[in-house]
Amino acid sequence: MSPELIEKEVKRRKTFAIIAHPDAGKTTLTEKLLLYGGAIQLAGAVKARKEGKAATSDWMAMEKERGISITSAALQFEYNNSILNLLDTPGHEDFSEDTYRTLMAADTAVMVLDAGKGVEPQTVKLFRVCRERGIPIITFINKMDRPTKDLYALLDEIEKVLGIKAVPDVWPLGTGYDFKGVYDLREKQLHLFDRTPGGKQKAAFRVSGPNDKSLDEQFDAEIVSAFREQIDLVENGIGSVDPTSFLVGRETPVYFGSAVNNFGIELFLNKFLQLAPAPDHIPLRDGNLLDPVSSPFSAFVFKVQANMNKAHRDRIAFLRVCSGVFERGLNVNHNRLDKQVKLSSSFAFFGQDRNTVDLAYPGDIIGLVNPGTFKIGDILSSGNAPMLRPLPSFAPELFATISCKDTLQLKSFKKGLDQLAEEGILHLFTSRTIGGGVPIIGAMGKLQFEVFQRRLKDEYAADTNLHVLPYGISRWISVADRAKVPGNASLVEDMHGNAALLFDTEWDMNYFQKNNEDINLLANPPYQD
Ligand code: G4P
Repeated sequence: MSPELIEKEVKRRKTFAIIAHPDAGKTTLTEKLLLYGGAIQLAGAVKARKEGKAATSDWMAMEKERGISITSAALQFEYNNSILNLLDTPGHEDFSEDTYRTLMAADTAVMVLDAGKGVEPQTVKLFRVCRERGIPIITFINKMDRPTKDLYALLDEIEKVLGIKAVPDVWPLGTGYDFKGVYDLREKQLHLFDRTPGGKQKAAFRVSGPNDKSLDEQFDAEIVSAFREQIDLVENGIGSVDPTSFLVGRETPVYFGSAVNNFGIELFLNKFLQLAPAPDHIPLRDGNLLDPVSSPFSAFVFKVQANMNKAHRDRIAFLRVCSGVFERGLNVNHNRLDKQVKLSSSFAFFGQDRNTVDLAYPGDIIGLVNPGTFKIGDILSSGNAPMLRPLPSFAPELFATISCKDTLQLKSFKKGLDQLAEEGILHLFTSRTIGGGVPIIGAMGKLQFEVFQRRLKDEYAADTNLHVLPYGISRWISVADRAKVPGNASLVEDMHGNAALLFDTEWDMNYFQKNNEDINLLANPPYQD
């Protein structure tokens, strides 16, 4: 394929994820973006509360809730001749490792804030992960149709709590019930909204100027004059969005809207397309960027999911294409196993439907049927594997032994344990000393335990008993250090054969380190380096 064609495809792609504290409106915004992309016809077809927070994917919850089918790791849709790859980042209250890893496949993050609540705890955690990886962030302040915090205070909060300059690219006309439209600060156009029943259709808008006399006739004089003052203040006091500062993570462009009412969504989407980088910003370990056009095909596995389709019970490994072109049947080098594999069963998912993918470009996500060949972090490439930065791993902080209630279910229990641990939703350990040989699971949040037990029951018909252990921190150690570990330490082994130590508290860990200075305590498993 000609480099010109690859470049053209790279240029029109945007691969992104939406990050938000639960309830800020991530699901609603996703749904509206899909609506604009023509991926679904009618938003909010079925209205019901989300069924429990333990759903493994927000999109699975959304499927149940809205009666639409969109379960997948990433969803591709076309809008205005751009191809958008939207990654699913399940957002629980809990810290969840797989959510963070999925972010590693994104080139841009959209941070959704609730205008009435501002920056919430989960937003902070997700934001930090994006920032550490140099992923530029666009802010969407949602629920402008409800009572909001003071808008300047909101911008200030973003700057103070997250440490990034917040620069509005649009400004709202009114807030709460009086929220009538948004003013495009760069184009100097005011987009007024028509309220549509339940926000079910694309909202129509009319364009006017901020000083348009008809504003005074149509709206409350107080709101209009406050709006004109605010525009003046923003234009002269804050300045305008600088795309370069955005790309290097120094500032976040801010948009206002109401996802549920379709207010400000189309404008946001158009601005997003202008600002978000194409998939040509993959950083390498040496600090250089990978050239997606001239480099041969390369991709990494960022997610493994078991039982995507209950009828087939298969496991899928999701790849993010980094460079070159993927063609079905391609022979690639499997970097970790150092052998050639043929990529023949490649899919894109849309709910329970899967479509064969014959061709994919940088930025695209492909699902491969995974008979156990692919693990999170694996790199596949046509030529030499690019030196991609390793995916982050997080040392678990909660531990429990898990056992099967019924010995007749033991076989499926073991299978479930292995396959779900392979997904990387939690760590699986064994120990000769702790828990009497019963498997130990390690997670970052309690909810991960709940999800794990539920999935073992639903997908593997295994009822389990969980017994929480008193440890609160863990560290891996190298093979060389293993022999130095004193006999009374809480030594465990993970599913890859790496040794790790469990401690009750950080104080205990520090105490151990002081007494065993020659043992290197590692926050990441040694196989990653
Ligand atoms: P999440 O994925 O971030 O957890 O949030 P989600 O989209 O599920 O939205 C959480 C709640 O906020 C939903 O209400 C949703 O309708 C509402 N919401 C989303 N965007 C807006 C907005 O712009 N304005 C207002 N006023 N509400 C918004 P719910 O009562 O939990 O569910 P539902 O019965 O309305 O679907």
